[in-house]
Amino acid sequence: MTDFLQSNWFLIVGALLALALFAARLFSADREFGKDLRGAIVLLLVFAVLRVIDWALHGQLPSGAAAWLGLLWRLALAFGLIRSAISVMLYLVRLRRVQTPKILRDLLDFSLYALVAIPIVKTQLRIDLTGLLATSAIVSVVIGLALQDTLGNFFAGLSVQLERPFQVGDWVSIKEHTGRVVQIAWRATRIETFRKEHVTLPNQILSKEAVKNYSRAGLPVALDLYFGVSYQNPPNQVKAAVLEALRDIPNLLPDPPPRCRTWHFDESSVRYQIRYFVSDFAHCDNVMEEIWTRLWYRFRRAGIEIPYPQRVMHLRSGESPPEQRTEVVSLLRTVDLFANLSPGDIEGVASQVMPRQFGRGESIISEGAAGNTFYVVSSGQVSVRTGSPPIEVSRLGRGQYFGEMSLLTGEPRSATVVAESDTELLEIDRPVFARMFEAHPELANQLSALLAHRRSALRAAAESSATSSDSAPEARRIFSRLRQIFRLQSDA
Ligand code: CMP
Repeated sequence: MTDFLQSNWFLIVGALLALALFAARLFSADREFGKDLRGAIVLLLVFAVLRVIDWALHGQLPSGAAAWLGLLWRLALAFGLIRSAISVMLYLVRLRRVQTPKILRDLLDFSLYALVAIPIVKTQLRIDLTGLLATSAIVSVVIGLALQDTLGNFFAGLSVQLERPFQVGDWVSIKEHTGRVVQIAWRATRIETFRKEHVTLPNQILSKEAVKNYSRAGLPVALDLYFGVSYQNPPNQVKAAVLEALRDIPNLLPDPPPRCRTWHFDESSVRYQIRYFVSDFAHCDNVMEEIWTRLWYRFRRAGIEIPYPQRVMHLRSGESPPEQRTEVVSLLRTVDLFANLSPGDIEGVASQVMPRQFGRGESIISEGAAGNTFYVVSSGQVSVRTGSPPIEVSRLGRGQYFGEMSLLTGEPRSATVVAESDTELLEIDRPVFARMFEAHPELANQLSALLAHRRSALRAAAESSATSSDSAPEARRIFSRLRQIFRLQSDA
């Protein structure tokens, strides 16, 4: 055994190296490193097995077989050492966040393999590969023809590496394929699409086709959307509604700002373009989906019509259907602000409310903004938030209301209200209240008291105090603001 070990010290070195690489593979989280090491370990194990066979059968094999066996274990050892050294070197390069494409690894591996194989073959088999390669013109032509496509792909892959129109991890479009580059190899480049399909594109295609790269050093990338709107809606109204809908969409960059342009007069609609920017192309589908969803709600509220290409004739009556009116009346009856109104007055208010729909995540009113609308939640849920960063102070559902404070006092909105789910609201504006006060001047006083009471209750809830403070001075202050806003007589 000692004899074996003494004459086979490189066998021990090889086996120990294989063990060390195996341990490194176990503890490293780098998948590329793991893959590279697997090749090196296999080569070193092959070397160890062949070397032991060679030692065990020493002298018993015919000289030709012994020479081949010697050639194989020497090649396996040399290739294993090269592969280990390159794996470690590329791992260190990756630690500095530099990508190491597969084609580069393969090229390094195979160049070094060829360099060490020539002298080993020469000493073991007495064959001079350099002479063979240099003199055999016919072999070169045959190989050249057979590998025409493969070599074309190989050189195209090399030029992709040198030019670097994209790297692993970039989002690209090539022909009809869009995806993230997952591998650049010596024959082909592989991309992963949004549907997680892997598309393998021969490198020659990349050198012939236009390649769009959406990942330029983290710079914003622009995306365009087109939609058509009825000729009835003035372009400035449409553009303002679109820009408002685009506010606060997650992953849509506020800078560079999104733009909406009047694009074309089509047969049955005016076409508009929206150009917006995202920081990472990976978000493009989600952002686009959110834009279409918000546009639907925004357009619906603003009465902006997306015409159908087929000409459908809609006959509209201004009146809402009777079942809908009954539903509105019964909802308004539950609102304490209207508790002192007669059934006839409630009917009057119900005929003037505007149903509004908001999509999940849309802002309904913003803290600090001016406001002259009041909302009753008909379905869904809204979140009332104040401060910066915004903190939720309350959630309101069916039958609850908000927006009364600014409407009645003219003060800026005291909170931001955001739709928590798809929400339907009844919107009531200041003229409706003005008509109510005209008919029932005493209501102004009652509403001031109610408002003051709600305010102190809200304040007490916010401060987690069990008792609410005296609301009479607040009621007087609100009443005086209310009289100013609605130009009421002082004896109201
Ligand atoms: P307004 O100030 O017009 O706009 C924001 C609205 O949020 C406000 O009217 C109230 O209706 C509502 N609001 C403010 N604070 C609270 C709160 N703490 N709880 C419930 N609703 C609130």
